[in-house]
Amino acid sequence: MRGLRKSYGDFVALKGADFELRDGEFLTLLGPSGSGKTTLLLAIAGLNEPDGGEIRIDGRLATYLPPYRRDIGMVFQNYALFPHMTVYDNIAFPLKMRRWAGERVRPAVERVLGIVQLPELADRYPMQLSGGQQQRIALARALVYEPSVILMDEPLGALDKKMRDRLQLEIKQLHKELNIAVLYVTHDQEEALVMSDRICLMRDGQIEQLGPPDELYFRPRSVFAADFLGESNLLKGRCATTVAGRAKVKLVDGGLVECLCDAALEAGAPVRVMVRPEAMRLLREGERAENELTGILHDTVMSGGTTVDRFATAGGVILMAKRLTDGLGARALPGETARLGFAADRAFAITEG
Ligand SMILES: Nc1ncnc2c1ncn2[C@@H]1O[C@H](COP(=O)(O)OP(=O)(O)O)[C@@H](O)[C@H]1O
Ligand SMILES: [Mg+2]
Repeated sequence: MRGLRKSYGDFVALKGADFELRDGEFLTLLGPSGSGKTTLLLAIAGLNEPDGGEIRIDGRLATYLPPYRRDIGMVFQNYALFPHMTVYDNIAFPLKMRRWAGERVRPAVERVLGIVQLPELADRYPMQLSGGQQQRIALARALVYEPSVILMDEPLGALDKKMRDRLQLEIKQLHKELNIAVLYVTHDQEEALVMSDRICLMRDGQIEQLGPPDELYFRPRSVFAADFLGESNLLKGRCATTVAGRAKVKLVDGGLVECLCDAALEAGAPVRVMVRPEAMRLLREGERAENELTGILHDTVMSGGTTVDRFATAGGVILMAKRLTDGLGARALPGETARLGFAADRAFAITEG
């Protein structure tokens, strides 16, 4: 995709998307509702026409190619199976559209029914299937003509949590076995982290950040990215010095901390030091950490396997430290002075605005 743009009337839904889906890659478009994910996917599928920019598939210009000539399979959130056709006919439909020879159709349909592990359902109608089964049939229909790319738009959005978790793993497994490129859309950050080789974070019709899950999680380039992918603590400050990918940051709340940073960061720049809750801990008496902050323990909340200590800095910012619940009781009492610690290589300087 190069400079791909799309407006609906005056409203610009896609403001110039540039990215590459690599061979065999699982790439997820992640972003809040309305950020342009579906618009981008439909343009790639050939189901809506972009206003500008270009799409290439295997190097070939495809911006205005009709959908059936793109070698792309598509799975939507609402299954979109034909209600009046059996499972078999639903899956055979794209082959008939592509004028496959009759004798090739049955083996192809049976093969994909095997892949999605529902060979016994060929004669049922969609209405007679559960949501999870319908979505697997929709997947089979997208796979049947062996496209090199599959697009999926929130395919698990209509399923309950248990079925979603199961199908997430199945789709991931299928992706591995079939060595097919998948462009997947979700607004669920956890789903994106679980499934993707790379994540393309979208915001207001633009790509905010594109990279492997751990890069987005540990080195978000914006507060938006940090907040969208999980919980974060953000400490406002100004960069004092940088050496070899590390920065010393003077915090607004007082104190100097050390963290990772991008090579482009310069002394004097305003930054926010981002630390994930699981990288912070409430220090016991005498315990030391590379970076330490002093403040007041706000409260401690145990939610089963994990416990969160919330802590107020001198400037009134609430920070969270998440740990595995140990059953050893409170480390400090609410209102007591306490220290929080974190390692320099678990913190990252965001240089936004
Ligand atoms: N057919 C349409 N006509 C007008 N506006 C649309 C249309 N489709 C989408 N939009 C608008 O474009 C923006 C992006 O929509 P969409 O691509 O569906 O976002 P997402 O899939 O990320 O939720 C939204 O603000 C949406 O209201
Ligand atoms: Mg959408």
